[in-house]
Amino acid sequence: FNVPVAVNEPILSYAPGTHEREEVLRAYQEFYATQTAVPLYIGDEEITTKDTGEIRPPHDHQNVVGTYSRAGKKEVKKAIKVALEARKEWSKLPWEQRAGIFLKAAELIAGPYRARINAATMVNQSKTVFQAEIDAACELIDFLRFNVEYMTEIYAEQPESTSGAWNRLEYRPLEGFIYCISPFNFTAIAGNLPASAALMGNVTVWKPSDHQMLSANVIMEVFKEAGVPDGVINMVNADPVMMTKEVLGHEDFAGVHFTGSTTVFKGLWEQIGKNIHKYKTYPRIVGETGGKDFIVAHKTAIPQQVATAITRGAFEFQGQKCSAASRAYISESIWADVKEALGKDLESITMGSPGDMSNFMTAVIHEGSFDKLAKYIDAAKKSKKAEVIFGGGYDKSEGYFIEPTVIVTTDPNYETMETELFGPVITIYVYKDKNWEETLKLVDETSIYALTGAVLSQDRYALSQATDALQNCAGNFYLNDKPTGAVVGQQPFGGARASGTNDKAGSKLNLLRWVSPRMIKETF
Ligand code: ALA
Repeated sequence: FNVPVAVNEPILSYAPGTHEREEVLRAYQEFYATQTAVPLYIGDEEITTKDTGEIRPPHDHQNVVGTYSRAGKKEVKKAIKVALEARKEWSKLPWEQRAGIFLKAAELIAGPYRARINAATMVNQSKTVFQAEIDAACELIDFLRFNVEYMTEIYAEQPESTSGAWNRLEYRPLEGFIYCISPFNFTAIAGNLPASAALMGNVTVWKPSDHQMLSANVIMEVFKEAGVPDGVINMVNADPVMMTKEVLGHEDFAGVHFTGSTTVFKGLWEQIGKNIHKYKTYPRIVGETGGKDFIVAHKTAIPQQVATAITRGAFEFQGQKCSAASRAYISESIWADVKEALGKDLESITMGSPGDMSNFMTAVIHEGSFDKLAKYIDAAKKSKKAEVIFGGGYDKSEGYFIEPTVIVTTDPNYETMETELFGPVITIYVYKDKNWEETLKLVDETSIYALTGAVLSQDRYALSQATDALQNCAGNFYLNDKPTGAVVGQQPFGGARASGTNDKAGSKLNLLRWVSPRMIKETF
C-alpha cells in the first residue's frame, strides 16, 4: 500500500510580522463582518430552516456573528434516508478513492482553509490562535493523514493461507449508518468523528455541538471541496433529544461515535439497549466522555516543572480540554516552592479576546458553564476546608471570563477534587511526604474517571510505583509532563472507567470499530 507516509503537521508560530498571523486576523475579522448562516448539509442540499440558533463569541457575547439552522424530525429522517442511499455506492468505492478524498481534505486544511478554520475556532469557541492551530489545523490534519496509514495497516492484516486454500479477510463497512455526536471543545474531534467512520466506507449522520457551528461549517466546506460524495457525511444540528430518539430508533442504526459528557453517553447506551430488538446488527458504541484529570507531584519533583504542568495543563483553553488537569496532589516539602513558581506563572497570564494575540486565556464557552464555575468558586471562598489562593475572580459583562483559579483544600474528598468542572479551576491537596503510597491509593480510589493523569518525580522508583498503582486511573498517563496535548501518531488518546470505551482516537483500534470483517476461504 504505497500511501504517503503520514507526518505530523508542523505548528506555525503566528509571530508578529508572519504571513499566517495576517491571514488568520483577516479571516477572524471577516467572521465579524459577515453574518454566517450555517445550513444543514443533507445529501446534495444545504437546507436553511426557520428554527435557528445564534452564534455568539463567548468572549464577546453581545455580538451575533451568525446563525445556524436546526432540523426538525422531517430533516433528521431525510438525513438517515440519504445516508443509506449514498451507502450503496460509497461502500463499494475502492479504498484508494476514499483515502484520496481525506488526504486531499488534510491538504486543504494545511493550505487554503487553515486561516479560516482557525479563525472560526477562535471566534466561536474562544480559542487563542495557538490553541486553534494545534487543534483545528494540526490535529485535524494529523487525524486525516494518520488514519489513512492505519487503514492500510488494517487491510494488510491477513490470515495465513496454505496451498490449495486461500484465506482472505475483507474489512467491510458496517451495515447501516453511523451516528456521530461531537463536542464544542475540539474542532479536530468534530471533524474526525465522521471522517474516520467514513474513511472505512461508512455513511454518517453527524450532530455537532451548538457551540461549534462556525468551525463545523468550515469542516463541511472542506469535505465538500475534497470530494466527499453527497450523503456520506450529513451534518445536522437539531434538538438532541428528538434527534437521538429518531436516530437510535432506526433499524439501520449501526453505531455511535461520540465525544461528550458521561451522562449523555450513558443515556445513549441505555436507549440503544432498549431498542436492541429493532436493529439489524449489534451497534458499535464508541465514546470518549468525562474526566477529572490529575497531577501527582512527588517530593523529588522539580517545583518549576510542577508549576508549568499546572499552568499549562489546567489553564490553556480555559481548562476546557477533556485532558485538562483539575486536581493535584503535591508533596508538602516542595509545596512552598511550587506555590511561589505558580504565583509567578499566573501573574504573567493575560486574559481577553483571542483577537488580541498576546492573551494566554480567553472566555469559557457559555453562560451555563460560567455560572457553574462561579458557584464552585464562591463555595470554596466560604468553605472551612478550602482556600482560593490564586484567581477566584469572574466577570460576564462582556464575555464569560473566569480567572485562572487555584483552590487548596485540606480535605482530599472536597467537592472540587471529585466533580468535573470543565473550566480554569484546579484544586490542590498537599500531602505529607511520608504518605506517598497512601496518596497513590487515594488517587486510585477517587478516580471515577480515567482519562489523563501526570506524575512528576526525579526518582525512578517513585515513577515506577506510581505507574503501577495508578494503572487504571488514566488512558493517557504522563511522566514528568502536563496531562494535555496528546499528538496523533504519537500518543493515541482515550480513557476508561467513566471516561469512555478507550478506543483511542487516531489509532487502528478506533478504525477497527468501523468495520465488520468477512472471512473468505476459497478452496482450489
Ligand atoms: N488530544 C487532546 C489532548 O490530549 C484532547 O489534550
